Amino acid sequence: MKGYQFEDTQGTFHLKKAENISYLYFPIAGEAGLKSSLTPNLGGDAKIDQNTFLLEPVSAENLVNNRNSRNFWCNVKGIGSWSLTGNAAEALSKKFTEMQDDSEVTAGFMWQKTTRESKKYQLRGEILSFIPVEKNVEVMLVTITNTGRMAQTVTPTAAIPLYGRSADNIRDHRHVTSLLHRIETTDIGVLVTPTLSFDERGHQVNHMTYYCVGWSGNGEKPVDFYPTAEDFVGEGGNFERPYAIVKNAEGVKAGTRIEGLEAVGGLHFSEVTLEPEEECSYLIFTGITEDIQEIRNLSKTYTTREMVLEELEKTKAYWQEKVNVAYHTGDSDFNQFMHWVSFQPILRRIYGCSFLPHHDYGKGGRGWRDLWQDCLALLIMNPDGVRQMLLDNFAGVRVDGSNATIIGSKQGEFVADRNHITRVWMDHGVWPMITTKFYIDQTGDLELLEKEAAYFKDKQIARGTRTDTLWDESYGCWQKTKRGVREEGTILEHLLLQNLTAFYEVGEHNNIRLRGADWNDALDMASEKGESVAFSNAYAGNLADIAELLEAYRKKTGKETVSLLAEIVSLLEDNPALYDSVEKKLHVLEEYLHACEHDTSGEKVEISIEKLTENLRHKSEWLMEHIRKNEWVKDSEESGWFNGYYDNHGRQVEGDTKTGVRMMLTGQVFPIMAGTATDEQIRQITKSADRYLYDEKVGGYRLNTDFGEVKTDLGRMFGFSYGDKENGAVFSHMAVMYANALYKRGFAKEGYKSLHALYRQSANFEVSRIYPGIPEYFNGRGRGMYHYLTGAASWYMLTVITEMFGVRGQVGDMILEPKLLKEQFDEEKKASLTLQFADKNWKITYLNREEKDYGEYQIADVTVDGEKINFVPKQHEAILPKNMIEKLSGNETHQIEVVLAQGNITL
Ligand code: G1P
Repeated sequence: MKGYQFEDTQGTFHLKKAENISYLYFPIAGEAGLKSSLTPNLGGDAKIDQNTFLLEPVSAENLVNNRNSRNFWCNVKGIGSWSLTGNAAEALSKKFTEMQDDSEVTAGFMWQKTTRESKKYQLRGEILSFIPVEKNVEVMLVTITNTGRMAQTVTPTAAIPLYGRSADNIRDHRHVTSLLHRIETTDIGVLVTPTLSFDERGHQVNHMTYYCVGWSGNGEKPVDFYPTAEDFVGEGGNFERPYAIVKNAEGVKAGTRIEGLEAVGGLHFSEVTLEPEEECSYLIFTGITEDIQEIRNLSKTYTTREMVLEELEKTKAYWQEKVNVAYHTGDSDFNQFMHWVSFQPILRRIYGCSFLPHHDYGKGGRGWRDLWQDCLALLIMNPDGVRQMLLDNFAGVRVDGSNATIIGSKQGEFVADRNHITRVWMDHGVWPMITTKFYIDQTGDLELLEKEAAYFKDKQIARGTRTDTLWDESYGCWQKTKRGVREEGTILEHLLLQNLTAFYEVGEHNNIRLRGADWNDALDMASEKGESVAFSNAYAGNLADIAELLEAYRKKTGKETVSLLAEIVSLLEDNPALYDSVEKKLHVLEEYLHACEHDTSGEKVEISIEKLTENLRHKSEWLMEHIRKNEWVKDSEESGWFNGYYDNHGRQVEGDTKTGVRMMLTGQVFPIMAGTATDEQIRQITKSADRYLYDEKVGGYRLNTDFGEVKTDLGRMFGFSYGDKENGAVFSHMAVMYANALYKRGFAKEGYKSLHALYRQSANFEVSRIYPGIPEYFNGRGRGMYHYLTGAASWYMLTVITEMFGVRGQVGDMILEPKLLKEQFDEEKKASLTLQFADKNWKITYLNREEKDYGEYQIADVTVDGEKINFVPKQHEAILPKNMIEKLSGNETHQIEVVLAQGNITL
């Protein structure tokens, strides 16, 4: 099947007969809380949170099986009943035949339009769906046109089943919870206000009203209503052939009250006769509110079709403005793909990691690592408020270097683990530093390091290995000192604690323990003896990066010392004999953990910055050297890569084993990114990855080779089918990070290969079966899975901007270091990027007149708004210093032109 076509430069696309692709879904949401998914037949669901589902919650399989989707029917006099959504038994019976209706989906950021045309009924239907930014209501604007040569009489009916309760009740008292329903019809629609809400909080008095109301484009109200599922579908009927529609049955009048049944927003309008080409429209609103008056107000706000269309335009503009980055390369489809990728972090801010059909787990919200990584994209698109966000997020760190894992709905709100010891993911300490470094580089705000934040406190102590029997609710969620005051420490102190405690928490091979898992959530069965060499690299990289930031801080502020928690001193011993000894390391860690088990001393000590940087560098170097020495593995062809893990038997996982080559991508990404891998090692790694992991048919680099074993001493991932999710799928997030690491080290062609394969696969609709954007992973058949909500989007964006285009900050200065390949320039030999940096708007254009490839060009000339800037030729990069940027005026878009010309870059 031919894929979608783009209509403009803003990502709008259309797709014919989209309904012939199963599992397609599209997100529409607002900022007030309502978030929906829509299939081409208007299946999908709508909810505010786990306990407040307007439509019945769906998983991916329900998309192809559920009958009770949003629907709009026309009972056509003398012919039969036609569904404008295609959700009708008759429509299904014509699927895969010539008689199938013509249909098309058109969509852009947060809106979808479906059109359908029936030869039999001589009608065309159009349904436009969106959620106004500040309202919890799904708007459906329905237009029906007579395409025949004779007048036709039709009776329109909107039919939207209202679920109105918690997602938990889908198989937990589904029937009993329907007994809570109190259904009422008003002159404009159906309202359901359950008496109670049954959910994990117990039985709560409910105040939410779930509703579906509507009127015609001429302000005509429905004649009567079908408010219950039983009466709407009738005995023996179903939602694809409902009795009420087929028989054009009389409904109940306004003012009817019904208790204890499944509800439907069935709005039965009066019949209308349409002359040829004549059209009529209906405005349908399905929503959730605690204030009934809001429902009434809708008829004033959206009286006419024009008023709805005006709201749609506002909604479109709102979301387009959020994506204030534009990409221009020689491949216009790639530019559009990037537009969608850049929108995805915004979707994840709204949906969390739950609430789209594949994401049928979790209860909204994001995990710790996702929270930090999503900040990367926000930093690029919406830097205001990021500083506060970082400060608030740092308050989730515990004084033992671990962190809160239940994240509240408000920024800076973390939920205590009151009962049991939850998992500690060993990678969690890595991400805050990566995001903080990026923030400081983009802004030059080194002073963030000296800002103070609280520490999170709950029952868990000693990095989740013990519980604090002295802690109870009255202590509260913030760490206290012995004197009972809140312990606060600088951001630097938080970073040090996260990275130093990890440094000491080693397994028997002196790599950092895997604990509950690392980034790969499914490596969760090696908590005793498992080690993650992969993320040991990341910590080593962080230690060096902290040192670098500290040096810059010292230079900028002139300060010679920093004030740190007194207990930290034990973690700052600098001694190779200690580093070499697993036992000694664990001892140091235990001493520290014991010292701040319940309260901290509240004492601070002054530490010399110079000594501290040296100390951190020693630790970083030791760890990298340790990995280089012990974890390099080879195959029989003498091509090598890094082992990334130890299993729960303490055995090295990767290498050329008896059962074949075992290689994992994560274990390569971090040694490259952190600098453990030498350039020669990178060459070998890429060769090995190409040999063992690369598979163009499914989008590039797989996460691992097939171990052919359910490896219960490492993780549940080995129970997954090979090629799916964390077991050897092309998992976009890690494939992008692999690219990022390679670009960083100057291996642009190799990095591009991974990014390009992901893009090609995403855009190859025939196989990937997804709308534009990047999915979480591609399965063994190449299908895109878990579309939209993935950290891969943030990283893809980040890599394209800061590495491929090479536009990034360095402690506030703007660096231009393009790593674009020859094939990425357009016919005019240009490639450009529009974005905000340092509160100013920029368009950066690279001009590659000589058509050189990366490695063959260097920057020859740089102009800013037409004026040449001072620039040292024969360098890889051009620098626009912070003070020069600050002098430029604020509002207009500053044009930077960078001329590239022949000249070798030595790697
Ligand atoms: C998802 C999770 C992420 C986890 C990853 C691998 O990835 O959200 O926390 O690290 O699986 O298990 P995503 O594609 O959303 O980044």
